[in-house]
Amino acid sequence: MNPGIKVVLGVTGGIAAYKGAELARKLMELGLGVQAVMTRNAEKFVTPLTFEALTGSPVIRAGLPEPGDDPMPHISVPRSASLMVIAPATAGIIGKMANGIADDTLSTMLLAADIPVIMAPAMNPAMYANQAVQENIARLKTRGVRFVGPSAGEVACGETGEGKLAPVEDIVSAVKEALNLKTDMDGLNVVVTAGGTREPIDAVRYIGNRSSGKMGVAIASAALRRGATVTLISGAMDVEPPTGVAFTQAMTADEMLNAVGEAFKTADMLIMSAAVGDYHVNGRSGGKVKKKEDWTISLAPNPDILMEMGKRKESQTLVGFAAETERAEEHGLEKLRNKNLDVVVINDVSRKDIGFNSDFNEVTIITKSGAVEKIPKSPKTTIAGKILDTALAVRDGSKPRT
Ligand SMILES: Cc1cc2nc3c(=O)[nH]c(=O)nc-3n(C[C@H](O)[C@H](O)[C@H](O)COP(=O)(O)O)c2cc1C
Repeated sequence: MNPGIKVVLGVTGGIAAYKGAELARKLMELGLGVQAVMTRNAEKFVTPLTFEALTGSPVIRAGLPEPGDDPMPHISVPRSASLMVIAPATAGIIGKMANGIADDTLSTMLLAADIPVIMAPAMNPAMYANQAVQENIARLKTRGVRFVGPSAGEVACGETGEGKLAPVEDIVSAVKEALNLKTDMDGLNVVVTAGGTREPIDAVRYIGNRSSGKMGVAIASAALRRGATVTLISGAMDVEPPTGVAFTQAMTADEMLNAVGEAFKTADMLIMSAAVGDYHVNGRSGGKVKKKEDWTISLAPNPDILMEMGKRKESQTLVGFAAETERAEEHGLEKLRNKNLDVVVINDVSRKDIGFNSDFNEVTIITKSGAVEKIPKSPKTTIAGKILDTALAVRDGSKPRT
């Protein structure tokens, strides 16, 4: 499951269930975490495997949980999510929700959920026109359930009329609106680096660092959600790259320099959150070095990727991170000036409760015009949003929002 915002996607038993798979894919591409929940009848139309493959998470199915499963997914899943989307929504699920019927996992979840619900009905036009269905929809609307579609046209059974699932793009737009997702990075090409580099010592050993990649992945996900096209270039990471990014692995500083250099040519923004090692091993051995008493390794400096991109910079907005252990602000500011950055994000990596490998960070963001914003200890997803706000504001030439 991706970090950040989670959406529960309920899929019910109609021909349009396969469109639910397309919707799952599109939501993942927005950087959202998607938890699919299928009714028993939905599984007659599409297999859970399709949704598992697309979302990367097991599907929650209709029966009661097996030993070892989460015993109460109908409570825990909506509590961990921000939105439920039922697409396609059968006359059956609409009727159940309108009348408080909880006879399987999805219908029970809908009653337990204290989060916004979007329904995208799809059914035969005669069914949709039926007074019972119309009354159920009207009742749900008064309770705040949002409906997308259906649209008019030819439905699967060959009849024509109102009852066709709304276009998937319309459902995605409703999701964006309900989650209040910004679209202020639409059309921007954003390159993010993440994780830590590994410099080989011999065939099996390397010099690495404790970077988990969480900060970079949070930034990449946030940029995706705001409409950007995102390239993620990473060294070693403890987390999965979000679906929807163009992903390149670059394990050494040299590999990262090449990958970043290439991507930078067409980038609008580069955010370098990777922890790039400062040194590589001189004359590394091709095989595995045998154990011996003492072993002296000589190190040579790595290329400074941020400095290099600062030199090559044209219209790109360049954001660098400064991982400092002392006099953090002063050193970060120095980095901003020396490396021709637009924004520097300074974090104090001497603290155990934030920074490397933590889900939290506490940073100071400084822009080239000297605006300083201190962000108190917050989840990395929140920090990611603040960094993008500032980078965009600098790009637009306006004052960063505080
Ligand atoms: C081939 C076929 C297609 C169906 N398509 C729909 C549909 O598009 N919309 C709908 O409301 N019901 C449709 N149904 C009826 C539902 O499958 C039925 O009402 C079922 O009980 C819904 O269960 P669920 O809402 O728990 O998934 C269809 C049934 C069949 C056999």
